Amino acid sequence: MRDRRVKIAPSLLAADFTCLRTEVWKAEAGGADLLHLDVMDGHFVPNITFGPMVVKTVRRLTHLKLDVHLMIQQPFRYVGQFADSGADSITVHAEACHDLPGVIRQIRTQRVCVGVALNPDTPIDVIKPVLEQLDLVLVMSVNPGFGGQAFMPSCLRKIRELRRWIDRAGLKTEIEVDGGIWPQTAPRVKQAGVDILVAGSAIFGSGDVAENIRALRNS
Ligand code: DX5
Ligand code: ZN
Repeated sequence: MRDRRVKIAPSLLAADFTCLRTEVWKAEAGGADLLHLDVMDGHFVPNITFGPMVVKTVRRLTHLKLDVHLMIQQPFRYVGQFADSGADSITVHAEACHDLPGVIRQIRTQRVCVGVALNPDTPIDVIKPVLEQLDLVLVMSVNPGFGGQAFMPSCLRKIRELRRWIDRAGLKTEIEVDGGIWPQTAPRVKQAGVDILVAGSAIFGSGDVAENIRALRNS
């Protein structure tokens, strides 16, 4: 096991939206390192969640960094709005960008951190040319669109390979994994070399949020 401290990013997708304020506070008090916000447009993925207004609302509730995961088509149309809403990092899907280097530059001009996400079927080679411009690579360990899906072990090879690229090049780019992360699956991705664990169901699904965060951290 690598001894680097892994960050925990609770995904609000699984939170109880009738009391979003309490859920955010529980995550912050429970030791979350950042908050993960899943934006879905019903086109890039079949599901629809929320947009900049909710990001702006969450921004007013917490000092935690907001990690905005855009599962939307033509993300360049909305980058400015999400940055203005208080996102600290904006992650776009490589599959949704015709001009990935252009979108990366656009996010950078907003003075927020830049992430690129890869679906389970997308090889990591697509980001090789832009890797050194990224703060974050988000490796999907489920097909994006819904919480509560089973972890796909095929992400492990991608994480290991990315870890090698990043370390060899001496980059600070972080690797984030998203989908099906539980205390049972977390040790495998930690060992493969991730820096950030995203977890929705495992944190907000049942039980105590702080306890669940601790269980992931100590797994
Ligand atoms: C899925 C989202 C995830 C989701 C993970 O498309 O990107 O962030 O919240 O949910 P769990 O942890 O329940 O698999
Ligand atoms: Zn996500």
